[in-house]
Amino acid sequence: MSATQRFRIAAIPADGVGREVVAAGREVLDALAAGSGGAFAFDWQEFGWGCEYYARTGRMMAEDGLTVLREFDAIYFGAVGWPGVPDHISLWGLRLAICQNFDQWANVRPVRFLPGVRSPLRKADDTELDWVVVRENSEGEYAGLGGRNLSARSPGSEVAVQSALFTEAGCERIMRFAFDLARTRTRRKVSSVTKSNAQQYGMVLWDDVFRRVARDYPDVETESVLVDAMSAKFVLRPEDLSVVVASNLYADILSDLGSALAGSLGLAASANLNPERRFPSMFEPVHGSAPDIAGQGLANPIGAVGSAALMLDHLGLPEQAARLSTAIEATTAAGILTRDLGGAASTDDVTKALIDALNP
Ligand SMILES: NC(=O)c1ccc[n+]([C@@H]2O[C@H](COP(=O)([O-])OP(=O)(O)OC[C@H]3O[C@@H](n4cnc5c(N)ncnc54)[C@H](O)[C@@H]3O)[C@@H](O)[C@H]2O)c1
Repeated sequence: MSATQRFRIAAIPADGVGREVVAAGREVLDALAAGSGGAFAFDWQEFGWGCEYYARTGRMMAEDGLTVLREFDAIYFGAVGWPGVPDHISLWGLRLAICQNFDQWANVRPVRFLPGVRSPLRKADDTELDWVVVRENSEGEYAGLGGRNLSARSPGSEVAVQSALFTEAGCERIMRFAFDLARTRTRRKVSSVTKSNAQQYGMVLWDDVFRRVARDYPDVETESVLVDAMSAKFVLRPEDLSVVVASNLYADILSDLGSALAGSLGLAASANLNPERRFPSMFEPVHGSAPDIAGQGLANPIGAVGSAALMLDHLGLPEQAARLSTAIEATTAAGILTRDLGGAASTDDVTKALIDALNP
């Protein structure tokens, strides 16, 4: 039977465990497609960009990389960064180059507590916890504005400026996204995070826009919380969270805290969305390239597989996304866990268990 729907996916495993978890995610997605009776299939093209490519060519991706990627339905990304290449070079040369040029302005990072996974939070044992961090992904502290060595008067006197950019349009679109997302959830609530007591320009603009946008969503509860207080709230009152919207930097940090609270950084999934679909969106685990465990078969593939589920949702296959999420739950509930979760299973063991769980 020929496939009725074919999706062109660009795979960019990049560095370290990125390669292991993208390979695992592809295997799981291909198994899902193989079991669909020809309803859908994935046409993969893999790009060997990353730090090794940089060592050979002086570039993190091909010169025409963005033009090539534009033709795909989605991008499935691993992680970038490797010792020997400065992190700001590798991040800006690949991941941020894609996110920013493809205007993937909404970064969605669900915090999921899985059965069979012990959270460091005692509260998680008897409380239903589930929230989503929505990260502004196009400006803020990662706008890349500033300069270095502006007036180096002598050795030891260097000056650097790193500015954050907040635009009313940028704030408004991410907030509307967060409110619309809250309307799809059991608890209709958006928590906005800033540090507007200390950052009196950009973050006060953020707060003003939040209040204005909130008026269009009277059915959604709101709160504005300073980032230091929100860090404490993640730990002490997480049951009070549903959608958390924050700037590029704050949401980046808070989502790592969220995934650690859920049990491991290796579990966290994310979607970098261009909601208008003018460009392909990119799906990637939250974690980095983990050089400390790379190449040993220890990487937890669940963050990457969860990201594949977000990709399926975006491609219009929500039932398949739900199947993948159920397979993840069945696998962790069965105690098939990698070392970061206290288990002894390898990346391959978990991948196989996920595939088996797709067709119980
Ligand atoms: N999106 C990205 O591509 C991204 C994100 C963060 C960091 N980085 C890069 O990754 C490199 C390493 O950064 P880091 O050490 O700060 O963060 P990291 O996320 O790579 O690792 C932090 C810790 O989490 C563990 N970990 C991460 N992923 C795991 C997985 N799938 N399974 C089990 N354990 C996992 C690691 O072993 C390590 O102990 C740096 O070059 C950094 O710039 C890239």
